[in-house]
Amino acid sequence: MPADIDKFTSLNIPIIEDCAQAIGAEINGKKVGTFGRVAIFSFYASKLLTTGYGGMVFSKDKNIINKARDYREFDCRQEYYPRFNFLMTDFQAAVGRAQLKKLKSFLNRRSKIAVEYYKALSKEKVWPSKSASIKKSIFYRFIVRDSQPETLKIFMEKKGIKTIIPIESYELLHRYLGENPQDFPVSEQIAKTTLSLPIYPSLSSVEVKKIKSALNSYYEK
Ligand SMILES: Cc1ncc(COP(=O)(O)O)c(C=O)c1O
Repeated sequence: MPADIDKFTSLNIPIIEDCAQAIGAEINGKKVGTFGRVAIFSFYASKLLTTGYGGMVFSKDKNIINKARDYREFDCRQEYYPRFNFLMTDFQAAVGRAQLKKLKSFLNRRSKIAVEYYKALSKEKVWPSKSASIKKSIFYRFIVRDSQPETLKIFMEKKGIKTIIPIESYELLHRYLGENPQDFPVSEQIAKTTLSLPIYPSLSSVEVKKIKSALNSYYEK
């Protein structure tokens, strides 16, 4: 679900939108990635559209785009400073262009799977809850809220269903920065209570049924 972007843009500081998991999402009919000074997108294999590895920088600010290009195009440069060999190959670009044509159908399929999961789970088990909103969400992940995600994960594994804990406590940014975890109770709590169900366009209806039935038996619905 897109962030409350107004709260950030109203601070009048340059905003970098991380849209790695959000291509196609919208706020009030406007695509995410168009609200800040610059946006980044990831086209890694597991993302909403893929070029294998790689991604995209989007900005309406020509200086930023020129700077990004300059970092990437390292050959035949007269000024020496660090640049990076991050060029996307033509083959990857061709895959990306073909994927882009299918993006709408990929996102629709993900939404359809999400609708099925919403049916299988009670309201308090789903995060964020399904509500009418000006925000158009993208189901990159489908998050179950549970006080013991590890137990649910093992249960699902025994049924042949792989789930993941999307963010572990040790990955939280404030931990990297050596801050006191008690000062970040919300992210600490979320990291301990979330599990991500399989959701991707090629997941078949039979597989979705199997996942729903496993959830039903876990929660004894
Ligand atoms: C939210 C978010 N930001 C950034 C990245 C990094 O993208 P990449 O792996 O293409 O560098 C990812 C990838 O997992 C991500 O999920």
